[in-house]
Amino acid sequence: MPETWKDTVVEGVAAKPQDVECDLLVVPVFEDDQLDDLAGLDEATDGEVGRARASREFRPKPNELFVTRAGNAAWKAARVALVGVGRSGDGAVDRFRTACAATLRAARRRRVGTVAVLLRGDVDSAQAARAAAEGVLLGSHADRRFKSGEDDEPPVGRALVVFPSSATAELARAIAVGSTLGEAANRARELADAPGNELSPRLFAEQAETLAGASGIAVEVLDEAAIERLQMGLLLGVARGSAEPPRLIVMRHEPAGAPREPVLGLIGKGVTFDSGGISIKPADRMEQMKHDMAGGAAVVGAMRAIGRLAVPTRVIGIVPATENMPGGRATRPGDVLTGASGKTVEVINTDAEGRLILGDALWYARELGATHLVDVATLTGAVVIALGHAASGLFGRPHGWVESVQQAAERAGERVWPMPLYPDYDEQLRSETADLGNIGGRPGGACTAAAFLKAFAADLPWAHLDIAGTAWADEASAAQPKGATGAMVRTLTELAVAAGSW
Ligand code: BES
Ligand code: MN
Ligand code: ZN
Repeated sequence: MPETWKDTVVEGVAAKPQDVECDLLVVPVFEDDQLDDLAGLDEATDGEVGRARASREFRPKPNELFVTRAGNAAWKAARVALVGVGRSGDGAVDRFRTACAATLRAARRRRVGTVAVLLRGDVDSAQAARAAAEGVLLGSHADRRFKSGEDDEPPVGRALVVFPSSATAELARAIAVGSTLGEAANRARELADAPGNELSPRLFAEQAETLAGASGIAVEVLDEAAIERLQMGLLLGVARGSAEPPRLIVMRHEPAGAPREPVLGLIGKGVTFDSGGISIKPADRMEQMKHDMAGGAAVVGAMRAIGRLAVPTRVIGIVPATENMPGGRATRPGDVLTGASGKTVEVINTDAEGRLILGDALWYARELGATHLVDVATLTGAVVIALGHAASGLFGRPHGWVESVQQAAERAGERVWPMPLYPDYDEQLRSETADLGNIGGRPGGACTAAAFLKAFAADLPWAHLDIAGTAWADEASAAQPKGATGAMVRTLTELAVAAGSW
């Protein structure tokens, strides 16, 4: 695959705003914010900051941007950007992260070399420092790997996160953590953005070796023969229709001195292209199904971050990687497959393939000694109908474990919304022929998919994140280009970091 995008380099500096040398000084502005702490800013911009605020050309609404020249020699910045964050208080750190990302996207269009982001306002400064680094990196992402010719919106080379001289060590650490998470999310985005022909299951496994391996994660890739030895009939059943052989990517984080338990098992759907198989999808937007391995990418990204951060807990990452293609050898509707757990499945619809491969992967995570499971998958169109693109669906049990995942997501600034697992959904999956059918009809499609996975988690604490609505942006917005979002990299990492509190 072509070289990856060059991420912005993020550094923390303790300095007064006027002393920071940069092309663009970014000033986050909250509602009812008088900028009292920035005496001299108005003068430095020849009155432009005051004028724009008074005339309401600039309003501090989320992601609103006002850029002006700082011509005054007393301030070392060449230009100043006011960026709106909205209300202080609840959610301000998340809005600040997004505002940083939006500003970095705008800065790229303005061909800025160095930005400096001020930490200010009534927010926890460590949380804000981390969010700034994350936002800068997320905003610096663009996928130009498959474009020839010159880049007229080159990445911003360097970003300084500027804080007052107190608490320097704590803030430097927060910036390092934020950079690690932002970088890992960007690598996950590149994986999900990669076209199917450039990221076959084999190439996905190679990328996982490189990306997770670089942070000290032990990566083992099981080939088709090894998958056959494990009798993973569900994964093999999905892979049958493809000329590309499947892979099972196994990543282990085993820090020296870590307790034997808990062992967090992260499982990610790795369908490198989902055509639907024999139950083939309509052509409209089928190209988007190159991102049907975004859950797997999130797990690879999280393992990379977990290694980098030296998280003191054992974590196993498992990504079943395959294509879902039609073909003379493909699984037919009506076929019965037997998974590694021994459960049989009647395949009613070959497009419900994610749950099949995850069934075998969940079983394997248990085999390898995971004590707590979380799977992440672009699993159902139905979750997009339920929640839109606003949140990932969160399922699982027991309640305490689901809550731990929800709290990790909250701290990470990623939206998840709890969904039910009523026994009714198990009923919908009943098959005359086999232990389970692989679909449960249209009603509650996201819930029946989750109910299917539940059958393979056995009695372990298990959570399922359906990211079909959140892994991909159909259109560009202020903070996000069209394409992969890196959803759940930060949440999964945060969950591993928080192992002591589950
Ligand atoms: N990969 C799709 C789900 C999906 C849809 C992901 C939209 C991202 C965006 C999944 O494999 C699928 O095809 N699900 C079917 C299930 C159905 C056949 C029960 C669906 O949602 O239509
Ligand atoms: Mn499908
Ligand atoms: Zn799929």
